[in-house]
Amino acid sequence: MSATPIQSTRMKTPSKITDMITPHLKQSAREIQRFGTVIEDLPIGLDAKVREKVCAFLNMLLADTMCLRDLYKKAHWQVAGPTFYPLHLLLDKHFAEQSELVDQIAERIQMLGGVSVAMAHDVADMARVKRAPRGREEAPVMISRLLEAHEMILMDGRGRAEEAAELGDVGTNDLLAGNLVRTNEMQVWFLSSHLVEMPLTDAQ
Ligand SMILES: [Fe+2]
Repeated sequence: MSATPIQSTRMKTPSKITDMITPHLKQSAREIQRFGTVIEDLPIGLDAKVREKVCAFLNMLLADTMCLRDLYKKAHWQVAGPTFYPLHLLLDKHFAEQSELVDQIAERIQMLGGVSVAMAHDVADMARVKRAPRGREEAPVMISRLLEAHEMILMDGRGRAEEAAELGDVGTNDLLAGNLVRTNEMQVWFLSSHLVEMPLTDAQ
């Protein structure tokens, strides 16, 4: 679906000099672009049909990445145990890296002429990542939950990177292969190492 231009009806000229410095509050108007549409004519040399397809799968990956990002903050706050300090720091580092990915995917969608999903309630509707309970869980459970989300995103992300390349969208291919896949793989390595049973003082 392509976006149709919407005419503006708000063209007022100030009647008094103070009108110019008075904020115009409580404004509302209809959306300027519907979710799921792309701008028809965009001078980036990629067909609207291709951009529409890419934006659709990028929005799914964006919703999942936002969930993973939030799972990291939840774990950063709620983790407990003898490894609290290193885990607390590592989880926040991964949160920051996932936040960077969120921004990169969202801005890629916008530069392709699409609309990126943004609000938590929309993300909750779209995401495929399994929902976590509101309460606290043991550290190994939280780590397992994070690893499951990583694997899901990695499997989808790799396939979508190939799809983007086949569609001629090398920019999206680069973002997914170079940033999304590699960041997630690195985080899986760091995280899964915490689930290895290792003697602390006496070798077995
Ligand atoms: Fe913090």
